[in-house]
Amino acid sequence: MTDFHMHVLPGIDDGSKNADMSVEMLERSAAYGVDTVCATSHFYAHENSLGRFLRRRAEAFERLSQAMDGRDDLPEILLGAEVYYFSGVSAMDGLERLCLEGTDLLLLEMPFVRWTDRMLREVQTIRSLGIQPVAAHIERYMHIQDRRTMQRFLELDVLIQCNAEFFLSRRTARQALGMLKQGGIQFLGSDAHNLSSRAPDLGEALGLVERKLGRGAVLQLEDNAQFFIRENEGRFS
Ligand SMILES: [Fe+2]
Repeated sequence: MTDFHMHVLPGIDDGSKNADMSVEMLERSAAYGVDTVCATSHFYAHENSLGRFLRRRAEAFERLSQAMDGRDDLPEILLGAEVYYFSGVSAMDGLERLCLEGTDLLLLEMPFVRWTDRMLREVQTIRSLGIQPVAAHIERYMHIQDRRTMQRFLELDVLIQCNAEFFLSRRTARQALGMLKQGGIQFLGSDAHNLSSRAPDLGEALGLVERKLGRGAVLQLEDNAQFFIRENEGRFS
């Protein structure tokens, strides 16, 4: 199983504080069958240049690799980023370098406001560059957008990631299961930041999916993730 969204790299953003915590996050993930973790550290253009971000990410990965010490019981890590939308993001030099390692997939965190035409156009421009945007935690925007805006967004051919909590919250579980059944979710992520308030929780969500929709739905989710990772394999890497 792939966890498509996790702040597992140590000391680079508001996620894992140190390499020991990262290893424990990976251990917890492995315990419920995760074999691939996408390390999607926050990229905020106003805080980091691309070069600085990539350098810090490489250093954080190096610290984590040392702590993992070649253990083969831990998930494989693919380096990526969670890119926060900003005006001009589609014209950023080197944007493709923030795609998930070996793919054209870009995890894009949209702003938490009603999306404007301009924002939608930028997403479309990113798509036209041959980068495949994946909307991070779609459930966090849905109540902000009107139906038509969300429809227009989905028509831009973005892929959809949702967090485990979409399934685990009583308020949204029905909606999450409905979306999954209709093929509206391509990637599941824990968006884990630590071991307490935002701990890896994909296992609980997968358990719920299995109870409500059957084992086939869980396998389908994994097939989806692998299919899209393979499908979007590396024009940029
Ligand atoms: Fe995140």
